[in-house]
Amino acid sequence: MKYRKLGASDLSVSEISLGSWLTFGAGVDDSAGRACVDAAFDSGINFIDTSNIYGIGAAEEFLGRALKDRKRSSYVLATKLYFPMTDADKGLSRAQIRKQLDASLKRLKTDFVDLYQCHRYDDETPLEETMEALGEAVKSGKVRWLGFSEWSPQQIAAALKLSGLAKFVSSQPQYSILWRQHEPGVFPLCAANGIGQIVWSPLAQGVLTGKYKRGAPPPADSRAMSPEMSGFMSRWTADGVLAKVDRLRPIAEQAGMTLPHLALAWVLRRAEVSSAIIGASRPAQVVENAAASGKTLTADVLKAIDAAVA
Ligand SMILES: NC(=O)c1ccc[n+]([C@@H]2O[C@H](COP(=O)([O-])OP(=O)(O)OC[C@H]3O[C@@H](n4cnc5c(N)ncnc54)[C@H](OP(=O)(O)O)[C@@H]3O)[C@@H](O)[C@H]2O)c1
Repeated sequence: MKYRKLGASDLSVSEISLGSWLTFGAGVDDSAGRACVDAAFDSGINFIDTSNIYGIGAAEEFLGRALKDRKRSSYVLATKLYFPMTDADKGLSRAQIRKQLDASLKRLKTDFVDLYQCHRYDDETPLEETMEALGEAVKSGKVRWLGFSEWSPQQIAAALKLSGLAKFVSSQPQYSILWRQHEPGVFPLCAANGIGQIVWSPLAQGVLTGKYKRGAPPPADSRAMSPEMSGFMSRWTADGVLAKVDRLRPIAEQAGMTLPHLALAWVLRRAEVSSAIIGASRPAQVVENAAASGKTLTADVLKAIDAAVA
């Protein structure tokens, strides 16, 4: 496993990291979840991403249990807030930042998180209030570094102007061969300001592994067939998307790698990307995905990928 620096922070994160959306504490049972976490550590993954909203606290609770016997310094732990935990508990106000951070720490059974992220931008709270409260969270020692997810370049620029209050080092956008929209705006702005990208759904929820085939039902044991986890899949299993994946198959074959490795090496080709956050329902996926670290793609392969998905 190779490691990269997360923006201007002192965090060294594995190129492949393990996420917990839909899976841990929710669609994947605890023993399979634990096997995934163990496989992650065994594969050199040191970076784990979660959020208070995943399973409405259940993913953090699972990780609290799964990580409690591991040395705290052996992993980098990231969580987030913003989405409604109850009708009243949502957003990025000072009161919510204090309340949700304490609740996350309790569930995660730790005194601090390495990275605390604003899961989305909050239009209903003045940005100054959010940045002040995030700064206080860092001062308190409960948070080491700060990040955001899916903020627009305008929102990022506004936060940068307030950088005396708190400094972001991390951005968490969706990014994959099939989802490139943040490349022109978010990537360069962040790179110029010490903010690294930790990218989500780099395998388009499993579609870029090639296991979903056009005209065939999804595999019975896949996310698309899971009542708990399939809610956000329909975009990716559309015929037009699967046709693009079909065009990627021979490219991976010619490059001498599996499709998941091609897809993960593709996001990691960008120096702005500090880590690709994968999800997993079983340990073999973690092992396979972790092995993408260090793989590189030639200019010809990159050109062929562009043409295949254009
Ligand atoms: N900031 C945000 O708004 C946001 C949003 C979404 C996600 N995230 C973060 O990003 C993480 C990853 O998202 P994601 O789960 O969508 O990532 P993903 O890696 O694109 O998809 C993960 C799913 O694909 C399947 N899979 C993975 N590797 C495989 C392999 N080698 N072979 C076959 N199938 C494989 C598994 O599902 P099955 O086995 O069940 O088919 C797995 O759960 C999340 O856990 C979360 O931490 C953040």
